[in-house]
Amino acid sequence: MVSKKFWKNKKVLVTGHVGFLGSWITNTLLESGAKVVGLDIVKRPKGSILNYKSKNLRSIKADVANLKILLKIVSTYKPQIIFHLAAEAIVSRANKNPLRAFKSNIEGTWNILEIARKRKSIQAIVMASSDKAYGAHETLPYKEEAALKGNHPYDASKSCADLLAYTYYHTYGVPVCVTRCGNIFGPGDHNLSRIVPDAMRCVAKDKKLLIRSDGKFTRDYVYVEDIVKGYLLLAQMMKKLKLAGEAFNFSDENPLSVLDLVKKIYKIAGKKANYQIQNIAKYEIKHQYLASGKSRRLLGWKPAYSLDAGIKKTIDWYTEFYKRK
Ligand SMILES: NC(=O)c1ccc[n+]([C@@H]2O[C@H](COP(=O)([O-])OP(=O)(O)OC[C@H]3O[C@@H](n4cnc5c(N)ncnc54)[C@H](O)[C@@H]3O)[C@@H](O)[C@H]2O)c1
Repeated sequence: MVSKKFWKNKKVLVTGHVGFLGSWITNTLLESGAKVVGLDIVKRPKGSILNYKSKNLRSIKADVANLKILLKIVSTYKPQIIFHLAAEAIVSRANKNPLRAFKSNIEGTWNILEIARKRKSIQAIVMASSDKAYGAHETLPYKEEAALKGNHPYDASKSCADLLAYTYYHTYGVPVCVTRCGNIFGPGDHNLSRIVPDAMRCVAKDKKLLIRSDGKFTRDYVYVEDIVKGYLLLAQMMKKLKLAGEAFNFSDENPLSVLDLVKKIYKIAGKKANYQIQNIAKYEIKHQYLASGKSRRLLGWKPAYSLDAGIKKTIDWYTEFYKRK
């Protein structure tokens, strides 16, 4: 369970806090009584769900790849816990501009780890890796001990960042855990190159959904509030259970094809399916999904939302959002 006692007055740094997952984690921390300093390279985008008016949130616009600024932020705010989420998280953008993705995702991560190496006051870092860090494997579902062998820019950036976290724990004892999730979905994601937000837009606006892949790619889909719970549990329990240096998969272990997901969304929305398969996706892993037994066993984590319940909540939110727009 997320412990309000643990989070009350905790000083927390969230990198990438105006992004989809960052907003959810920041809001939950604020609701739990934490004092949050958020860092992001962009200001709050339109339609953001971030509780930016909270008196316990300080938002700073900065690049996580800039060590000097990062050092200043950490010296000033003295965070005890760090959620490191800042990254170029969009696969197509990483393909177009690999150097920028490597800078944000790899250099940004080594900066966070290097600061933690020098500052013993940092008690726990939870770092967002990804299912993509594993790369393409014959044997699925991925377990945490599977090799990391991303072979496209976003995937490789996550494999590298993930290995750096491992290295900083094993060499310097930096208290860091990494999370590896499949596709996270829920209210407040405005990255329209992702299938769920785009499907939500098309459902709400009665537009045709264009599916980039052949519709057969297999993925995990997990509702965002369940992932937030996983991140917070990990930070809470890292010291007590001596989890530093470990990776954790989070998944509801119910993988499905893109096409099945899309059909499900239309069905739950009560609308006739309206999509076109483009089959133009390049450099993407065909099939990937995760085993999450370790998170369930060690953290007592399990998703509270079924896929259908998460989709229903998400449809309701986007329907309201597009009505207001
Ligand atoms: N959403 C998913 O399905 C998913 C799945 C697995 C892993 N992840 C990882 O979780 C994290 C959060 O993902 P998200 O879905 O919220 O993505 P997002 O794009 O909504 O959020 C990422 C945030 O990082 C910020 N950012 C990018 N480069 C930066 C830099 N150099 N300095 C500071 N800020 C920078 C962006 O402006 C953005 O607000 C990412 O690390 C992502 O790779 C996401």
